[in-house]
Formats: sequence, C-alpha cells, structure tokens
Amino acid sequence: MRGQGPHGVLFHMASNQNPCVSTRGAFLTHNKIFNKNTMNSYINNNCKIFNENNINVIQNINKHCTKYIFVTDPPYNIKYQYNTYTDNLQTEEYYKMLWSIFKDNMHIIIHYPESIYEYAVRFQIVPKKVISWVYNTNTEKQHREIAFFGVNPDLSKATQEYKNPNDKRIAKRIAEGQKCKLYDWWHINQVKNISKEKTEHPCQIPVEVMQNIIQILPEDCTIVDPFMGSGTTAIACINLNRAFIGIEIDEKYFDISKKRIINHIGIFNTH
Ligand SMILES: C[S@@+](CC[C@H](N)C(=O)[O-])C[C@H]1O[C@@H](n2cnc3c(N)ncnc32)[C@H](O)[C@@H]1O
Repeated sequence: MRGQGPHGVLFHMASNQNPCVSTRGAFLTHNKIFNKNTMNSYINNNCKIFNENNINVIQNINKHCTKYIFVTDPPYNIKYQYNTYTDNLQTEEYYKMLWSIFKDNMHIIIHYPESIYEYAVRFQIVPKKVISWVYNTNTEKQHREIAFFGVNPDLSKATQEYKNPNDKRIAKRIAEGQKCKLYDWWHINQVKNISKEKTEHPCQIPVEVMQNIIQILPEDCTIVDPFMGSGTTAIACINLNRAFIGIEIDEKYFDISKKRIINHIGIFNTH
C-alpha cells in the first residue's frame, strides 16, 4: 500500500500490514512507513526527523499502525521568544492546538502545573501518573509536571541514588549495593548557558529528564516528539537505543537538532 502525504512525503506500507486509525495498542514496524528518499530528513532506521508543521506529519503517522508514544515539552504559551514560532496564542486556540496533536495517542507532556490541570479539565482526561521535575531558578517557577496520559510508567525500570542515605535501613541497602527505583520527583538542573550541552535553542530541556521518562515507558513503542526543538528527545533515544521520530517547524532549530543528532550518533558509535 502506498500513499502521498502533505508536502510530498511518501508513505509506504507492505500489503500484509493493516492500517488502523488509533495508535493505542496497535503494533507495526515503522521502518517501512517512511520512504527515505522523499523525506526532508532521514538519519537512520531508528531516527527520522521532519522540518514540518507537526500536524501534517502526525496525520500520516496516525494512518499507520505502529505503536507510538508522544513525549514532548510543547511551547508553553508564555510569550517565549522563539526564532519564528509565536508563543502567544489565545488560550482556547492554544489548548485546541495541543489536543489536535495528542488526542489519538498515548502522550507524555511536560508543562507547568496549572497548564496540565487546565488541559486535563478541558479535555476530561486524567493522567495515569504525574511526576514533578524540580530545579533551582531565580523565579517563583521551580517545577514542572510530567503528565502521563494513556500510559502507565514503570518507575522500577530505572534507578537513582537514595536521597536519605543516613536512614539506618537505607544505609544497609546501600552497603549491599542496592539502588532505589526512581522517585516521582526528580531534581535535575535546567540547561544553563554555560552547560556543555547548550545549543542556540532558547528553552532546551536536559537530556536526563527525557532519558528518565523514556526509560520507564514500554520498550516496544516508537518515541515521537512533535515539538522537537533542539533534538533533546532524540539524544535520549539514541542513548537508550529507542526508535525516534521528531518534528520541528522552525528551520533554524531543525538544523541545530540535525547536527546535534548526527554528531551524537558519531560519538555514541565510537564508544
Ligand atoms: C518548548 S520547545 C521544545 C524544546 C525541546 N524540548 C528542546 O530540548 O530543545 C517547543 C518547540 O516547538 C516548535 N514548534 C511550535 N509549533 C510547532 C509545530 N506546529 N510543529 C512543529 N514544531 C513546532 C517550536 O519552534 C519550538 O522549537
């Protein structure tokens, strides 16, 4: 089966693969869906990135039945200064835009707490889990929520250092070489201007945040970031050997992410 998506992107499905509309619970290898010669960027079988408006690509992803999970921090609608995207939609329009992207898919959204509540109430959708990402800043906004919609993370799939090493029982476990499973709050510093990983993207998220999220998700799903920015989610996927699809509308950020990904694959392969 073969079809032409918007912007001339060709999609290809083997005839024994059943198309389905919802991605929930559906399985299919996605490697055959995208024709690498016609894509605006293809890095390897495990990593495909698009310089497009996400809605165009998502319509095509949804037509095919691989099991996808969307993992992203969307624009926060707080008048952030992006290169081209205007981060200042009317509230109604903003939430409609988010829903149009996420409604058919399992999705994990990183956002400020009030916005997660508003999203959940507007669309009558309850997250299966919420994790707090906390960090130090000079503003009153010192945490974001990571809300898991339609998918239950398994916190025991990743470990961290105990935060209470002086507790007698914990000290014993540490002495035995045990680590604790991930807490439901993560203290991870934001990417600073002086950080080694910092790119020109104005609101780059730490790789560790994305890695923590992806590690506790089911392994048989492709990770899709429809607001890819500088490609942080892709870097986390490469580190964890997970299939990835990323979409970024802005050409400058897309180029940054592409270079970052190619460079990272190079470094990763030499280790
Ligand atoms: C909060 S940033 C993501 C930052 C990213 N997590 C990182 O670490 O670099 C949101 C991004 O979404 C992009 N964006 C906004 N609307 C979009 C659309 N309709 N399709 C694709 N990308 C879009 C913006 O250009 C911006 O780079």
